[in-house]
Amino acid sequence: MFSQLQTVATDPILGLMAEYKADPNPNKVDLGVGVYKDEQGHTAVLKCVKEAEALRLRQEDSKTYIGMAGDLNFNTHIEKLAFGPAHQVLLANRVTSAHTPGGTGALRVAAEFIKRANPNATIWVTTPTWANHISLFQAAGLKVKEYAYYDYSSKGLQSEQMFADLNKIPAGDVVLVHACCHNPSGMDLTFEQWQRFTAIAKERGFTPLVDMAYQGFGSGLDEDAAGLRYLADNVPELLLCSSCSKNFGLYRERIGAISIVATDSKVAEIARVNLLSVVRSIYSMPPAHGAIIVGHILDSQELTTLWHQELAEMRNRINDYRQLIIDKLAAEGITDDFSFITRQHGMFSFLGITKAQIDRLKAEFSVYMVGSSRVSIAGLNHSNIDYFARSVATVLKG
Ligand code: LMR
Repeated sequence: MFSQLQTVATDPILGLMAEYKADPNPNKVDLGVGVYKDEQGHTAVLKCVKEAEALRLRQEDSKTYIGMAGDLNFNTHIEKLAFGPAHQVLLANRVTSAHTPGGTGALRVAAEFIKRANPNATIWVTTPTWANHISLFQAAGLKVKEYAYYDYSSKGLQSEQMFADLNKIPAGDVVLVHACCHNPSGMDLTFEQWQRFTAIAKERGFTPLVDMAYQGFGSGLDEDAAGLRYLADNVPELLLCSSCSKNFGLYRERIGAISIVATDSKVAEIARVNLLSVVRSIYSMPPAHGAIIVGHILDSQELTTLWHQELAEMRNRINDYRQLIIDKLAAEGITDDFSFITRQHGMFSFLGITKAQIDRLKAEFSVYMVGSSRVSIAGLNHSNIDYFARSVATVLKG
């Protein structure tokens, strides 16, 4: 039977990660996968996480099953982090959450949940979107379509086309929107655009699915959730998939969450039992470790303050490098306008260079970025920024 299998293409992001690892060039630069690196090029464990893990080691007294919704303390914290502690949807018991194996796990659970609610739903994603969104939803059996989002020529949002596309989406469909730090472009909706998006969602009756994988990496924890919170204030229902991979640096612990906002508490209760039955049929229960660490951090005022500091440090370092890329390319004699990089947010920007130039950067200079020209800015540091700028300038000059 297995000999009937056809080979499949490697994932564009994780495949690149493996290529980078295998490259012996000591000057290699990894701008591929969305993983934060510090000035030493290292993805360190956050100090608040280390302290929470020490606490867990002292306190943990059982390895018994955790239950399908995962850690309830984590779920309460993650809802407050996303919606704000006193959001009306929380006060009205309209939200039900489950912690999931990573943000990707949350998306897969969301897809199965959507299929139960409306087997004919189409899910609409931005053009472009995270490389895994489309295959993930298709694998779950959902139809996937795209709406306009990023304008490759102006390097901004294609807003009028986006709103025109959204205005055609029927009730019963689902529209995925990135809460902040759009992956892959870094181009986010302004608050006014969130308001317009919300008005269209209400009028058309489609259900928003907010993907929030980078809360705190854009402008701040509350600022990055402002669009989501406004949306939740105004639409009857939505889905939220969030992740603690980036903002808590817990990548390999696989910790994320799905939250469903329903019209009222009765519908939320029905949503909850359906959510748990979806979880049971996929992986039964999530792994506990990451959720309990996040719970310990958010239970403690002291650890929360430390986390806020560490998160701000990561965010500020990336923002500093957004400006440095522009300055260093100019210093290399590049006159093309790269100012758009500082108008974008989070881990990524599109450099906007050609496929041939991207291939040459990898082959000749061991500078790795995703084939769309998406760069993970956190891969830059003081030791490699000049080499990076020189390499890019060389390929741009042809
Ligand atoms: C990325 O986009 O690089 C990250 O979200 C990692 C991944 O799983 O693709």
